[in-house]
Amino acid sequence: MRIHCKVVVIAVCFGVFLLLYFWGGNAADDPLLKEVGEEPQRQRQQEKKKKEEVVEEESSNSSPSPSELRRDVAAKFAGKSSAGVGVRPEEPRKERRGVNAKSKPRSNVAQPVSKRSRAEEFMHLAVVACGNRLDETLTMVKSALLFSIKKIKFHIFAEDPLAPQFEERLNQWPRGISAKFQFSIYPISFSVGNADEWKKLFKPCAAQRLFLPVILKDVDSLLYVDTDVLFLRPMDDIWSLLKSFNKTQLAAMAPEHEVPKIGWYSRFARHPFYGVTGVNSGVMLMNLTRIRSTLFKNSMIPSGLSWEDLLHPLYQKYKNHITWGDQDLLNIIFHYNPECLFIFPCQWNYRPDHCMYGSNCKGAEEEGVSILHGNRGVYHDDKQPAFKVVYDAIRDFPFEDNMFQSLFYPIQTKFLDTVNTLCGRIPQVFLKQIEKTMRKVFEDKVVRHVRPHK
Ligand SMILES: *[C@@H]1O[C@H](CO)[C@@H](O)[C@H](O)[C@H]1NC(C)=O
Ligand SMILES: *[C@@H]1O[C@H](CO)[C@@H](O)[C@H](O)[C@H]1NC(C)=O
Repeated sequence: MRIHCKVVVIAVCFGVFLLLYFWGGNAADDPLLKEVGEEPQRQRQQEKKKKEEVVEEESSNSSPSPSELRRDVAAKFAGKSSAGVGVRPEEPRKERRGVNAKSKPRSNVAQPVSKRSRAEEFMHLAVVACGNRLDETLTMVKSALLFSIKKIKFHIFAEDPLAPQFEERLNQWPRGISAKFQFSIYPISFSVGNADEWKKLFKPCAAQRLFLPVILKDVDSLLYVDTDVLFLRPMDDIWSLLKSFNKTQLAAMAPEHEVPKIGWYSRFARHPFYGVTGVNSGVMLMNLTRIRSTLFKNSMIPSGLSWEDLLHPLYQKYKNHITWGDQDLLNIIFHYNPECLFIFPCQWNYRPDHCMYGSNCKGAEEEGVSILHGNRGVYHDDKQPAFKVVYDAIRDFPFEDNMFQSLFYPIQTKFLDTVNTLCGRIPQVFLKQIEKTMRKVFEDKVVRHVRPHK
């Protein structure tokens, strides 16, 4: 009799536990699902507290930090003694294992991991779109989605007329793709100083990126890219560099130029800048948590200033000497705080500058371009057709077609027409990484189909 009672009590407890478990799991998940639909109101009140948990990216374990990238970074800096760029796999890995003990290793992406732990695997990507950059931005977003493994949360800062158009276009994308991302659209806003003055500063809204750490208060880390950037390999690969930061590093960028003799900063800048050639801010990894908690050295106040307090005085001091706007301000900041910056090699921010005066990005020659940055408007004119070919192909790719057939082969074929231009001269630079990426996507798909019952 007593035993029966015990059994009944245990069974009831178990039942209640199960109920709570499933109920709790769903409740935790719903806001995330709804969020996509609720964007418009939400952005207007973006200052309000977001309900959604900070979906901090933890699981670099689902994207093996590519050994060749490490090799590459290491090789690139082998000449210099650099604890910072140095790759110390042990440290991050330990951290990863600890945090993410329960979630699954990479090949299990499609497995029924609990909803909650999947939500924690978001990568964050921010972009600022103004003027006529709608299609360009959407093509960038598309390239990020086509190849990436983990899910992505896009933070799109858009001028008023663009916001509803983003909303509409993104909601039209097929289900298979929309399962891989969420997005929030924010108005352009400047939290310190005179908003109009910031807006007038340089290109429309460019200065917005400086305020990301202040605005996105509950995001731990993010990748900022210009609208004219295209991913040619998974975003996961650059994201995993966050884990290679040493204790003082809080942002990562590529050099503005490889050759000081023809670099802009080294020849013309009338303000301090980072390193020998300065850095380019078109592709910038940021650990926002660290940026928010660091006091930055500067030429104005000896005790250092927080990021938020630094921006306006810095701008006031240098505004008559800067040419490229917010990128110049970033260069000044990291000139005084070089230990805070991680430098990644040029194939992660490959621009016309790397080929229009002759090929000068070694890393891209060796392993191909990883992230293409078509600045100078080259996606939209005929000055550098090699860049345009890639842009057009990704823009026109019908989602869910065979990537080799409808993306890689068209690029390869059209590339033949560019081989007598400066940038098209070495097709491998543009094609190697794309081909590798697509082969991987293809193989993953086949493997997934072959393996029964995920
Ligand atoms: C981190 O790396 C940077 C750049 O190499 C270096 O200047 C800095 O001293 C390093 N910080 C630590 C704590 O090792
Ligand atoms: C960013 O820095 C914070 C504070 O050092 C750290 O806790 C967090 O794990 C870092 N984020 C990533 C993605 O490495």
